[in-house]
Amino acid sequence: MSGSRVIAIDGPAGTGKSTVSKLLAHRVGARYLDTGAMYRAATLAVLNAGVSLDDSEAIAEVVAAADIQLDITDDGATAYLDGADVSREIRTDAVTNAVSAVSAVPLVRTKLVAVQRREADGAFVVVEGRDIGTVVFPDADLKVFLTASPEARALRRHRQNLAAGRPSDHAEVLAGVNRRDHLDSTRAVSPLRPAVDAVVVDTSDLTLEQVLDTLDGLTRDRIGVQ
Ligand code: DC
Repeated sequence: MSGSRVIAIDGPAGTGKSTVSKLLAHRVGARYLDTGAMYRAATLAVLNAGVSLDDSEAIAEVVAAADIQLDITDDGATAYLDGADVSREIRTDAVTNAVSAVSAVPLVRTKLVAVQRREADGAFVVVEGRDIGTVVFPDADLKVFLTASPEARALRRHRQNLAAGRPSDHAEVLAGVNRRDHLDSTRAVSPLRPAVDAVVVDTSDLTLEQVLDTLDGLTRDRIGVQ
């Protein structure tokens, strides 16, 4: 990557990854790239096309034809699918439940990884995802892997749902967290795991502010942001 400075933040859902990545980008003056939003937009395209989630070939075809864009600012992202703003639609349960199947298709990953590398070219970016330190930016300046116990992660998701006015059942959320963890970490292509040179931060007993301070300190040590 010519002239890029990349902070890779990986980990499972519910570790506070998105919130922390966004705030960190803001603090250190970097752009924020939410790669999960891209996989979600690809999944929405597949659902809209009515394609079976067992049909990898058809999924790859739909995603190859889809125009997926992220409007990146220093404090958030708007996702577009074929020109339409789908930022809200990509957060629905239908998309959340189907995204692991779509993101396990190798050609889907090939396409989105290329888009992610292009977006970061020459920029200072915080890139959030599952395979950023291992696959997308193996030479990232800083790699962080956020973890937390399944219980802590499910509780955060559950509270987020309630705060957003979405119906939520704690046990169901926990089952969903475990199911997605299993799918994401056992898939053949780019399974979720920390890069060997990632700093692993367990957020189970840390406040958001504590996690942010830790990452801010690591960024200043590695990249020397003022
Ligand atoms: O971070 P998120 O929950 O919005 O991500 C949604 C899904 O996308 C997640 O279940 C796994 C997948 N994903 C991926 O496979 N690779 C990435 N770099 C980011 C997300």
